[in-house]
Amino acid sequence: MAKDIKRIAVFTSGGDAPGMNAAIRAIVRNAFHNDLHIYGIMRGYEGMIEGQKQIRRLETTDVSNIIHRGGTILKTARSKEFMTPEGRKHAHENLTYNDIDALIAIGGNGTMTGALKFMEEFPDIPIVGIPGTIDNDLFGTDFTIGFDTAVNTAVQAVDKIRDTADSHNRLFFVEVMGRQSGYIALHTAIAGGAGGVLIPEEESSIDDLIKLLKRGAKRSKLFSIVIVAEGHQMGTVYDIAKYVEDKIDEYDDIKVTVIGHLQRGGSPSAFDRVLASVLGFSSVEALLNGKSGVMVGLKNNNVQYTPFEEAIAKSKPLNKELLRMAHILAQ
Ligand code: F6P
Repeated sequence: MAKDIKRIAVFTSGGDAPGMNAAIRAIVRNAFHNDLHIYGIMRGYEGMIEGQKQIRRLETTDVSNIIHRGGTILKTARSKEFMTPEGRKHAHENLTYNDIDALIAIGGNGTMTGALKFMEEFPDIPIVGIPGTIDNDLFGTDFTIGFDTAVNTAVQAVDKIRDTADSHNRLFFVEVMGRQSGYIALHTAIAGGAGGVLIPEEESSIDDLIKLLKRGAKRSKLFSIVIVAEGHQMGTVYDIAKYVEDKIDEYDDIKVTVIGHLQRGGSPSAFDRVLASVLGFSSVEALLNGKSGVMVGLKNNNVQYTPFEEAIAKSKPLNKELLRMAHILAQ
């Protein structure tokens, strides 16, 4: 029989992502709608281990005026201690002490991995996950919260770089985030009209890129922008730019821009706000319907529940057609 849930705690963990606040808002509002008590754990798993002073009751007013705000009002952390059995035991003691019946975890791969471990060791506290990461690398959802905003931020940066690249006839390498995933790079390249894209999922030969750039230059393409995912196997964006610089003289100069953490901040896009609201709302319903150990995602506009094991272990393949198209349109 499903546990009678009265007190839910929500937390954000790992890298923050625009839209996390919209998810927290939806969770709190739906919890109130269902006459539940809702608690916020500050600083993710770290706060769970620290206990009392990091666990606080949330009222609906606490989530007023946050839907448009980036970051997370609950703060976040990457907890090393939670990776240890002692850390998780401590966290469980604190949750029990505060009479927390169930948990909602918002975050990326590391967050879902922590949730799975915790659930295996302490099945008395049901836990449901919400995919919140700009990387969009979780299986079981078409999009993760924050991805759309991050891509929009990166595209705005590329648009600006385009102006100066054009004025100076320069070749630019722009690094975007994504340690193991090329989603941000691929979408930024397509939307930003880039002259090339290098992503971790593709064993792309840099020499093919050089050929492509030379071909473009021959057709009087005087400037170009190449998007590079930070996790590319060839090395850093600086290594890649240096390698290309030694082999190409069609451009007046080669420059590198790393967009970095700019991509993680800012007001969430309307898409991310809607996605976060749907997933936050549905996570409360999932717990009330007796679900645990699942990540709530959206696939083909339908809410879906994916076991943590699958969400973490299965890789979400990039759309190969989109990648093929990006390469063709780059010419
Ligand atoms: O997982 C989200 C992410 O932004 C990655 O794209 C990036 O590689 C990483 O976090 C950066 O983490 P940190 O902010 O801890 O340096």
